[in-house]
Amino acid sequence: MKTTFISVILLSSLLAISFAGCKKDEEDKKKDPNHLGWVYDPSPYTGPTVPRNFPQPTYTANNNPLTEEGVLLGRMLFYDPILSGDSTLACAGCHKQENAFTDTRTFSIGIDGIAGRRQSMPLFNMMYGSKFFWDGRAANLAELALMPVEDPIEMHETWPNNIAKLQAHPDYPKRFYEAFGVEPDDLTKEYAAKALEQFLLSLVSGNSKFDKAVRGTDELTAAEERGFILFNDQLGADCFHCHGDGSANQVFQEINAIRQFRNNGLDAPATPQGFADYGLGEFTGNINDYGKFKVPSLRNLRFTAPYMHDGRFATLEEVIDHYSTGVKAASPNIDAGGMEYASQGGVQLTAQEKADLIAFLLTLSDDEFVTDPRFSNPFE
Ligand code: HEC
Ligand code: HEC
Repeated sequence: MKTTFISVILLSSLLAISFAGCKKDEEDKKKDPNHLGWVYDPSPYTGPTVPRNFPQPTYTANNNPLTEEGVLLGRMLFYDPILSGDSTLACAGCHKQENAFTDTRTFSIGIDGIAGRRQSMPLFNMMYGSKFFWDGRAANLAELALMPVEDPIEMHETWPNNIAKLQAHPDYPKRFYEAFGVEPDDLTKEYAAKALEQFLLSLVSGNSKFDKAVRGTDELTAAEERGFILFNDQLGADCFHCHGDGSANQVFQEINAIRQFRNNGLDAPATPQGFADYGLGEFTGNINDYGKFKVPSLRNLRFTAPYMHDGRFATLEEVIDHYSTGVKAASPNIDAGGMEYASQGGVQLTAQEKADLIAFLLTLSDDEFVTDPRFSNPFE
């Protein structure tokens, strides 16, 4: 009896709604995307795929397969300042394509003119990532993509405001419908996050001179070759322990090697609490993690200066000088295994060796990536 009674009420209220709807038919058509001929039939993404000298991607986007519509929407959101509090700053404001999607400023500036405390990070080959940011606090790109918007010293906006702006926009509601089949009224920040995640995962960089040499379509010079050997030589520059070697399953730390967060001996405060930035320790709260930072990719260094989490080195020469003679053995939590020569200040390279090493590092830069129109500002 009770059930029937409820169904009757439900049925009559539904009828009431649809009758009311008849009167404002024209208005409803505007609201209802299906009446506007919007189509939800996304096509699988056909953009850059993983190069054949790379290992299988390890990142799994949770129920978010890349589609042409999703990647394009993510790209639009990435370049659109609409997501920031005063509509002046997009993700792309601190992640510039010409710089392999990082910032040349030591510290990026948010919409209120306040500088952050870490160097921006280049964005590519995240299909091998599992811990993002210098301190690894984001495990997932969709979650991560929501953070800069609400960060008070970055884009300083709320997601409810952004959803309202997107719903009122002349173009975005259709784009969201085409990418995810979501009606404008049901739009949530999770859909924006999914679109951004798709665009971030589409940023594949694998056409450096080094890659081409591995694939047999280019050749390293003698100096570059010497630098490569030094990089991978324990008795030479000894870099591969942390940054990975050029083998197919490492490709210079594009995968999550065991040495994911390390202290490479930049500073030596008396105690772990003396580090200006706790890095991984700030996230884990473990005192043994203070001063450890994500081991970054060494791809695209030609475009990504300044270097390190605080942008302290302006040039690769300065970076190499650090590893050669500037390592601080007394640094708390230093990676003793990886920084084997710390007690003598570093790996002690000659001027020739330094030049060779830099020549090799620069072969890992990918000119096609920083000019690829598929990653560029879609509004220009
Ligand atoms: C005000 C400058 C600024 C803006 C705007 C900004 N970022 Fe960032 N981004 C940074 C900085 C700085 C870091 C490093 C932060 C840290 O480690 O704590 C970073 C790190 C990242 C990373 C981590 C990469 C890695 O390899 O771990 C991703 C991904 C990223 N940003 C994506 C985005 C997206 C998507 C947006 C827009 C929604 C955005 N960023 C907006 C400055 C910015
Ligand atoms: C003990 C592990 C370890 C070893 C060995 C090591 N690195 Fe690093 N490297 C790191 C870590 C960790 C960072 C980031 C540190 C930070 O920002 O505080 C880094 C950062 C860098 C950067 C800056 C990249 C950027 O995007 O800012 C370059 C370049 C670099 N290393 C090159 C080298 C070279 C060349 C060698 C060999 C001479 C080497 N590394 C040896 C762990 C290591």
